Amino acid sequence: MIETSDIQQLRQQIKSWKQQGKTIALVATMGNLHQGHLSLVKEAKRIADIAIVTLFVNPIQFDKNKDLDDYPRTYEADIAALESHHCDLVFSPSVETMYGKTETATRVEVTHLSDILEGASRSGHFSGVTTVVAKLFNLTTPDFAIFGQKDYQQLIIIQQMVQELNYDIEIISHPIVREKDGLAMSSRNGYLTKDERKVAPYLNKAIKHIKLQILEGASNYQVLCEQANALIAEQGFRPDYIEVRRQGSLLEPSAEDCDLVIVASAWLGKARLLDNIVFSV
Ligand code: PAJ
Repeated sequence: MIETSDIQQLRQQIKSWKQQGKTIALVATMGNLHQGHLSLVKEAKRIADIAIVTLFVNPIQFDKNKDLDDYPRTYEADIAALESHHCDLVFSPSVETMYGKTETATRVEVTHLSDILEGASRSGHFSGVTTVVAKLFNLTTPDFAIFGQKDYQQLIIIQQMVQELNYDIEIISHPIVREKDGLAMSSRNGYLTKDERKVAPYLNKAIKHIKLQILEGASNYQVLCEQANALIAEQGFRPDYIEVRRQGSLLEPSAEDCDLVIVASAWLGKARLLDNIVFSV
């Protein structure tokens, strides 16, 4: 496995693989890898000759410096896990390599979708994500890029960016990997105390309950979501949003929409937890 933080070395290696006719799949991460990330790496190796993983805690997608500083960094363990998953190249650039010595002025933004749901609570977050992902696409020029459905809104935004900026990259969406009790795996789960960890699966339980009620014929989504918010608040969460939306566009669904997604975010102690379920009625 090649480890590099150098753009020139990255580009040369990729050029050489392309000359040999090899296909490339990219998995972009912020490190602190868990089984969710590693399932994306397995998929990369399954669909392409070469799997490239990027480890980069992207400062411009954090709205609070403290959140950025506290973000877990576990480079050695990440490298060991990637090696055992047959990753071919790890690119872990410094902030200076990605953005230069001064703040860069260029931003890539998918308007509208970046301002709702997660974007409403985290101003500038998604333009930080799309900017870094566009840069990583330009640097690695992959045939495929794999993103987790865990960050459903991020996935939809990146799909739209790829389409509208004419990237010749196939975006592969990968199912959410969960703990046995239903909690979606996340680097931020490490912020939970023992007691909070026991309560954390209630977010998934709450949205599964909404799905069941919809499948049984309930149609007042707003009431269902309010009830779910109250349920998790009783368990000690500070709910941000639980919403039923249209798959793909994340618009408010009409009565005729059959392909739905329930998206949810709530704070539990220091951790902001995200979850979603995609389903059809
Ligand atoms: P990060 O949170 O490290 O996640 C990297 C990738 O792993 C994302 O595509 C995310 O959706 C996926 N992932 C995380 N947890 C998962 C789980 N439990 N099941 C399936 N996939 C999971 O998302 C980011 O980093 C950043 O925003 C990034 C795209 C790298 C840009 O900085």
